[in-house]
Amino acid sequence: MKALVLAGGTGSRLRPITHTAAKQLVPVANKPVLFYGIEAIVAAGISEIGVVVGETAEEIKAALGDGARFGARITYLPQERPLGLAHAVFIARDWLGDEDFVMYLGDNFIVGGITALVEEFRAERPDARIMLTRVKEPSLFGVAELGPDGQVIALEEKPRHPRSDLALVGIYLFSAAIHDVVATLEPSARGEWEITDAIQKLVDSDRTVRSTVITGYWKDTGNVADMLEVNRSVLEGIESCVEGSVDETSELIGRVRIAPGARVERSRIVGPAVIGENCLILDSYIGPSTSVADDCVIGGSAVEYSVILQDSRIENAGRVEGSLIGRSVQVKGAERRAHAHRLVLGDHSQVRIDK
Ligand code: DAU
Repeated sequence: MKALVLAGGTGSRLRPITHTAAKQLVPVANKPVLFYGIEAIVAAGISEIGVVVGETAEEIKAALGDGARFGARITYLPQERPLGLAHAVFIARDWLGDEDFVMYLGDNFIVGGITALVEEFRAERPDARIMLTRVKEPSLFGVAELGPDGQVIALEEKPRHPRSDLALVGIYLFSAAIHDVVATLEPSARGEWEITDAIQKLVDSDRTVRSTVITGYWKDTGNVADMLEVNRSVLEGIESCVEGSVDETSELIGRVRIAPGARVERSRIVGPAVIGENCLILDSYIGPSTSVADDCVIGGSAVEYSVILQDSRIENAGRVEGSLIGRSVQVKGAERRAHAHRLVLGDHSQVRIDK
C-alpha cells in the first residue's frame, strides 16, 4: 500500500494567522500539521509516500526532505496547477501503479492516527473507504448522505443546501478502481476535478464504498478558535522533557517541554505547554495550553491558552490569553499610559483594544 499526500494548492500568504505560504506547515504544538499526517501514515505501516506539491514546493521539500527522518521514502509529484484533488490522483497515476493507497490532505488532522482505518481497509478491501465527521458548517466541505443502513448514497462538494451535517474528512482509502473513474471526470462548476465526484461515480457503478464516522477532526480553516483548540488537544498528550535550561528560581508544573537551547529564568510554567528551541522566558508566567515556537522572547508577561509562532517577542505585555501571534511579531507594554495607540500592523491583522 502507498500513500498520496496532497501538499499542493496555492499559497495562503494573506491569511492573518501565519506568513508561511504553505497551509500544510501551520504548526500545532510546535510541529507542522503535515508532520502529524506523515507520522500517522508511517505508523500505519506505509513507507512509500508520494507528496503532491505545487506553488509552495520548495517550502514543503525543505520541511520533509527525503522522508528518512520519518522512516519513509518520499517522492515529490509536481502538480502544475491546483486543478483539484482528483487531478492530483490523475498526475500520480504512474507512481501509484495498481496499488491500494491512502490519500491524505496535508492540512487535515485526525486525533488517534489512521492505523485502525488502514487495517480495516486491508482486511475488507472495498474500492473506497471515506471518513466522515459532523460539522457546524457543512457547506464548507464535501457532504455525504447516508442511507438507513449507513451506506453511502450521495456525495456533494460544498453544497449550498447540505443534505446532512456529515462532512468528508480529507483522508480517503482507495483501490486502483479509482483511476478508472478519475479518467472520466469533467471539471466541476468551480473548475476543479473533484474527488467527491469520483467517489460518487464509484457509488453509481455499484462499487463498494464504505464510510466511518469519526470524532476528533481538525482542518486548517484559518479559524483562530479552532486552531487554539487543536493546539490544546494535542498538548494534552505530551510528555515532560526538559532539554533547555531552567534556573533555580523557576518552577515547572505539570507536563512541560523545553527544547534545546531554550532558557527559563525567574519564571513559572504550568503545563501542558511547549517552549521551542532558543527561546528566552524571563520573569514570566506561561499557563496551560500554550505553544511557544522557536526563537521567541517572553519577558515580564503572562501568556496562557495561546499559540506564539517563531521569533516573536512579548515584553511587559501584562496578561495575554486566547491569542494567536504570528512570526516575528513584537508586543510591548508601553512605559507609561499611552494617550494614543501607536500601531504598525500588517495586512489583515486583528487587534482588540480593551478600554
Ligand atoms: O478537508 C476536507 C475537505 O477537503 C473535504 O471535505 C472536501 O470534500 C474536499 O474537496 C477538500 O476540500 P477543500 O476545499 O478544503 O480542499 P483544498 O482546496 O483546501 O485542498 C485540500 C488539500 O489538498 C490542501 O492541502 C491543498 C491540496 N491540494 C488541493 C488542490 C485543489 C493539492 O495538492 N492540489 C490541488 O489541486
